[in-house]
Amino acid sequence: MTLVLTKHFAEPKLHELETYRRLGGYKALEKALGLPRAAILEEVKTSNLRGLGGAGFPTGMKWSTVPPEDKVPGPRYVVVNCDESEPGCYKDRVLVERDPHQLIEGLLIASYVIGSKDSFIFIRGEYQTQYEILEKALDEARKAGLVGKDILGKGFDCDILLMRGAGAYISGLDTALLETMEGKKAWPRQPPPFPTVAGLMAKPTVVNNVETLSMLPHIVENGGEWFAKLGVPKSGGTLLLSISGHVEKPGVYEFPMGVKLRDALAAAGGVRAGHKLKGVIPGGTSMPPLMEKDLDIALDFDSVRAAGTFLGAGGMIVLDETADAVEVAHNIERFLAHESCGQCTPCREGSFWTEEILERVLHGDGVPADLENLPRVGENITGRVICALGDTVGMVIRGYMTRYPDDFKKRISNGQKG
Ligand SMILES: Cc1cc2nc3c(=O)[nH]c(=O)nc-3n(C[C@H](O)[C@H](O)[C@H](O)COP(=O)(O)O)c2cc1C
Repeated sequence: MTLVLTKHFAEPKLHELETYRRLGGYKALEKALGLPRAAILEEVKTSNLRGLGGAGFPTGMKWSTVPPEDKVPGPRYVVVNCDESEPGCYKDRVLVERDPHQLIEGLLIASYVIGSKDSFIFIRGEYQTQYEILEKALDEARKAGLVGKDILGKGFDCDILLMRGAGAYISGLDTALLETMEGKKAWPRQPPPFPTVAGLMAKPTVVNNVETLSMLPHIVENGGEWFAKLGVPKSGGTLLLSISGHVEKPGVYEFPMGVKLRDALAAAGGVRAGHKLKGVIPGGTSMPPLMEKDLDIALDFDSVRAAGTFLGAGGMIVLDETADAVEVAHNIERFLAHESCGQCTPCREGSFWTEEILERVLHGDGVPADLENLPRVGENITGRVICALGDTVGMVIRGYMTRYPDDFKKRISNGQKG
């Protein structure tokens, strides 16, 4: 199996520039700076690279929507989304800790293609160690002429600024992230315009995830076709899964796109000994779980969607039979209610009421009407809000109630206390 992002992870001191360069690092940047920007964009399109921050949007297509300089003159930006606040996701943290230069190299390649002379890495405030690692790596890269003026003597200028978040999940949503960067409250913007047309300071801006950008040196080095072939027809390359929960060997694993759920679980040592699988949250808590019947589905954006849920950002949480669906749903909805930014009334009120109702069901005080009201509250949020957080509230409760109806009924009819 071909490893792309984690290929050198066993190497000690990989986070240091000297090690990274010894292993061939920054060669792809050098190659890219000698190529026309349009040629790299074509390779990215051919690669079928899709955004690994959650939405799975094709990266080449996103980049193509940035207006050319002759149509919209002035600055344009690339922003790395390292907010990683989705419960269950921790692969970006590992990528930054182990291989910060891979990300910086990818960001520089993207900046060259987009024409960004000032690029940004937005990192969640809680990632203190990772912030320090990035700060040091950027310092090394600057001193080596890899960041700043006339990079590698090729006439390309690009500085990189590190910015820290302040602990809000919603800041991970691209338009809320841009608001935060502008010093404002992290309230999502209502597109259009999309950030590639009017983003940071109303200038064309590409926001990409850490993992997405870390793929770029490998695409430039080996070609888009090579990358595409590692995955499945509409999703190229590999993906990282941060696997946690009731498995023997939790951790970050790299797989080809389209790996079978069964094989991903096996790599993590399988369900913990003596227990049975109850469900697998595929991409982070904002989505319904997959079930035992889904073990043979392929983990790629389209196949997981066809199975009724999402691949998201690969934050896989495994649940065995000891997990109670009411407790799990309550935990997730409590998080979403806490993190709802409050801008859209249906989300602000609906997430609060979903949590309230679940709280009483959990404590054995539910009434039969709750079984109807819970999904109804969710339905009144979906499609009536600016961002996907509100949609998630309804999707999660419906997802757990339809997959595990007995866990909900048991609590209500028996008055079972949590
Ligand atoms: C509530 C919410 C939180 C999000 N959090 C993150 C995050 O922490 N990191 C991330 O890369 N994308 C996050 N996203 C997705 C981003 O809005 C955006 O799609 C992504 O950064 C684009 O990068 P990509 O195309 O490389 O995936 C979030 C989306 C939503 C709705």
